[in-house]
Amino acid sequence: MLLEPVVVRTGVDPRFRRDVLDGFAMRPQRAIPARWFYDRRGSELFEEITQLPEYYPTRTETALLARHCGEIGKIVGPGRAVVEFGSGSSTKTPILLGCVEPAAYVPIDISGDFLRESAAALADAFPKLPVLPLEADFTNPLDMVDEVSRLPKLGFFPGSTIGNMVARTATNLLRAMHETLGVGSMLLIGMDRVKDAETLIRAYDDEAGVTAAFNLNLLHRINRELDGDIPSDAFRHVARWNAWEARIEMHLEAARDIAFTIDGERFAMRAGETIHTENSHKYGPNAARLLLRAGAWTPIREWLDDGENFALILAEARPAGTAP
Ligand code: AVI
Repeated sequence: MLLEPVVVRTGVDPRFRRDVLDGFAMRPQRAIPARWFYDRRGSELFEEITQLPEYYPTRTETALLARHCGEIGKIVGPGRAVVEFGSGSSTKTPILLGCVEPAAYVPIDISGDFLRESAAALADAFPKLPVLPLEADFTNPLDMVDEVSRLPKLGFFPGSTIGNMVARTATNLLRAMHETLGVGSMLLIGMDRVKDAETLIRAYDDEAGVTAAFNLNLLHRINRELDGDIPSDAFRHVARWNAWEARIEMHLEAARDIAFTIDGERFAMRAGETIHTENSHKYGPNAARLLLRAGAWTPIREWLDDGENFALILAEARPAGTAP
């Protein structure tokens, strides 16, 4: 049962232009937020990434969910509204919905197209389940529609997307989720683990060059949407492990000295200079739990694959307590 999407904000995002122009001008490191990867082509390329042999997170998390779903269902209990932050994934979401006996499903996404497509697919697969897509920016606390606001809730944030944020942004997001879902709710979140640098770099610099195409697509998007003339063939994709920050960084590196314009503004880059386009933080067990606690969630259970590559963590929103 698919109900009409609730539209909170639509239209071309003026923040893209601002983030790109500010990001190219930034010193000492040019940087553009990773959220701008996801135009239609970028989203298609990301789907391809999730199928790559080197990109272990998606298949590991899906297997974890399938393996432990019964136990998750028992802990969570029936009758919750499952609130997914991001458009539902075609494989993970049905697994979860199949074992928690949900009372409703609320996918939240800023991209209306993907939201409608994935909500329609889920509604077909679960014809009796009320599906209430919400087109909104979930980084801010949101009001739930009446049918859902009274239900207990289970937030679902798979894919280690939390890793694409620095700690300050990640804790702000977790707190916003806490406010959206309310005390007594639960959150099932996927978090990628720290592991050897070689495995990590391979996952972000694959043999077939799909991740490179995903990174370079940002330049095509800028040229197309912001009237740019960046010579994308002068850039190469770089994935680096930053051990101090415990994160993979993606950059676009200028292979030669170049000059270009974006929306009438002129920029120049030297050979070897980079634009920092993504962080993907990885967590040890304590860092993962501490991040959740700092974001107002109490971890209660966690599941790992045999290789300890990826963690699925269940946390709950308890009332604020008094420190001893
Ligand atoms: C969406 N996010 C969790 C992916 C990641 O692994 O950080 C994005 C990605 N970037 C390159 N490959 C995958």
